Amino acid sequence: MAKNKTLTFLFILFTIFSISTLTTTATKNHGFARVLSPPKLGLKRQKLSHLHFYFHDIVTGKNATAVRVAEAPVTKTSPTAFGAVNVMDDPLTLKPELSSERVGSAQGIYAAASQSEVGLLMDLNFVFTTGKFNGSTISLIGRNSVFSNIREFPIVGGSGLFRFARGYAQAHTYSLEPTGDAVVEYNVYVFHY
Ligand SMILES: *[C@@H]1O[C@H](CO)[C@@H](O)[C@H](O)[C@H]1NC(C)=O
Ligand SMILES: *[C@@H]1O[C@H](CO)[C@@H](O)[C@H](O)[C@H]1NC(C)=O
Repeated sequence: MAKNKTLTFLFILFTIFSISTLTTTATKNHGFARVLSPPKLGLKRQKLSHLHFYFHDIVTGKNATAVRVAEAPVTKTSPTAFGAVNVMDDPLTLKPELSSERVGSAQGIYAAASQSEVGLLMDLNFVFTTGKFNGSTISLIGRNSVFSNIREFPIVGGSGLFRFARGYAQAHTYSLEPTGDAVVEYNVYVFHY
């Protein structure tokens, strides 16, 4: 009797051991994800950076930096240009003057996505080309009600020094020409490592 109980106990123990071994092996062999501690990826201290620059949206002339790539049949008669899609590679500078120091570009798309006011869907990457941020990018997506004094957009990510970026950007129109060319002041607040 006692011998039987011992055998049963050993059998149960063996079964539990086998199952846990199998599970571990399965995770090792077939898993594509694992838990990593942030310092192993060099992520030590989170920083909060404030970036300030001017964005030049040049829509006219042969040096235009934003071009219309698509529109809808209603765009021409729509008071809000509804349906217009532009692709931009807009210079970013330190000062409001286009001739001031270049810090990077804003590359992406804006689309007139509102029928009730001029409201753009902004989807762009800030590509920095100077100093320690050279080659790093910040990705922004959000709504731009262009005639509001301050517009706010989520920062949804980044690359290089801006890996794991999150935060927000605020835009304020510095100048707007009758042609549509605009200089926009940007303040970007971003958490990154
Ligand atoms: C376009 O850019 C070139 C080179 O920077 C410059 O010489 C020219 O004056 C610009 N043209 C216009 C219309 O701004
Ligand atoms: C930025 O990086 C590129 C590519 O590595 C390099 O060619 C360029 O000289 C750098 N610019 C500055 C201002 O450091």
